[in-house]
Amino acid sequence: MTTPYKDKILILDFGSQYSQLIARRIRELSVYSEIRPFSETLEAIRAFEPSGLVLSGGPASVIDADAPLPHPEIFDLGIPILGICYGMQLMTHMLGGEVAPSAKREYGAAVLTRTAESELLAGLEKNLRVWMSHGDRINKTPEGFAPIAATDNSPVAAMADGSRRFYALQFHPEVVHTPEGVEILKNFVYSVCGCSPSWTMHSFVEQSVSEIRGRVGEGRVLCALSGGVDSSVAAVLIHRAIGDRLTCIYVDNGLMRLGESEKVVRTFRDQFHIDLKAVEASEQFLSRLSGVTDPEEKRKIIGNEFIKIFEAEATQLGQVDFLAQGTLYPDVIESISFKGPSATIKSHHNVGGLPERMKLKLVEPFRELFKDEVRLVGRELGIPEEVLYRQPFPGPGLGIRILGEITRERLAVLREADAIVIEEIKAAGLYRQIWQSFAVLLPIRTVGVMGDERTYDHVVALRAVNSRDGMTADWVQLPFELLARISNRIINEVKGVNRVTYDISSKPPSTIEWE
Ligand code: XMP
Repeated sequence: MTTPYKDKILILDFGSQYSQLIARRIRELSVYSEIRPFSETLEAIRAFEPSGLVLSGGPASVIDADAPLPHPEIFDLGIPILGICYGMQLMTHMLGGEVAPSAKREYGAAVLTRTAESELLAGLEKNLRVWMSHGDRINKTPEGFAPIAATDNSPVAAMADGSRRFYALQFHPEVVHTPEGVEILKNFVYSVCGCSPSWTMHSFVEQSVSEIRGRVGEGRVLCALSGGVDSSVAAVLIHRAIGDRLTCIYVDNGLMRLGESEKVVRTFRDQFHIDLKAVEASEQFLSRLSGVTDPEEKRKIIGNEFIKIFEAEATQLGQVDFLAQGTLYPDVIESISFKGPSATIKSHHNVGGLPERMKLKLVEPFRELFKDEVRLVGRELGIPEEVLYRQPFPGPGLGIRILGEITRERLAVLREADAIVIEEIKAAGLYRQIWQSFAVLLPIRTVGVMGDERTYDHVVALRAVNSRDGMTADWVQLPFELLARISNRIINEVKGVNRVTYDISSKPPSTIEWE
């Protein structure tokens, strides 16, 4: 696939946990960048027309017989190359230098001293803090290269061949522990590769609108709108491209939060004039869930019911050709790089299986974007901040936050408690900093006293976690006064609750949701 952006950087991925960060840092410089597997063919690399290449780090050693190697002719393309960590050893190895195992593994912070002038490190201090993570070292630089910086343990911590515009770093400029790293990447991207900052969300929107028009033609697109960030931004973007040939379906499964369904309809139908079909299906979901307490069974029922309803609604619309999906770049990278699929801990629900069954083609406008870029697109499109910065909310909704049986009465209790949590977290100015904060209704009752009366009522647990991607999470040390306020309000205002607890478990070994 070629991209229309004029200046762009291609990153060849050798399996480093930091590859995505390199792409993000370069995009933050307003230059488009993509990650491809290290084994990318020369034709594909040429077709991408990169202004420069970055060879990422990786866990392997170039000394090993089965070390991952790129196509050798990447060095004959005549474009600048930056090797980072494993990428540096690789350049040394493939271009005729010498790599040897280091007596001492260097891991963590180090002080880098510049030893010669170079375009890559131009304008930087003589000594820099950098982040190292490597086992091998450079014994001899390849022909044409000269060392440009050293650390105590690495006499060649950076090297350059200015005439070929090849550079290599033993440390990681893409991580925050290398404070001047962005300056180094800036030098590479702007000065060495000659890129200009042209990747902006405005250009992305213009480009996507024309791509969506081209792909969809006279066809019709269906979008499952949940009110979450990805589907909301996708809907507005696609609507801008094809107007009323987009139909959104919002399914109210009865497991939504206080006022949520009304808000979605108001925002997208009234404000954005999107053709939105809101399906009120609480009864259908809740009757199927009646008596069910097993978490996986709940998830399956909610997922299946959703697909059934969505499909029935879609069929009523007549001929539809495309389904919009909010696939993000990390999902795409996940499927192309060589990290193994992780085990399924909980079955997540989406519109899986539907495109094949209904013979729908996909429109995935965010395949190239990171989550924070989707938010910027949303801002560009005028979507309210409240939607763009919503904390993640699971597809099965409050259904997996009510432990035990889901009833209308228990839903009402949790909704009120949850609304208080959100309101107070927002009032404390913490909503955007926290990954997720919510209430959980426990399947037990405890004894309390109100006035002179003994009570025997529900227990609510509070959960607040910080996370980067939902894969791991730490519980948040909320201020005691805030916890006190939330607890007081819930116990006083929500009828039927006489006790509030705070969940202080991290993921792993716990999970974010309780079911
Ligand atoms: P767990 O509970 O597995 O959750 O630690 C990780 C993240 O995923 C969200 N989550 C879901 N999202 N459908 C979704 O769209 C689901 O079925 C689902 N289950 C959990 C959860 O809220 C957290 O952000």
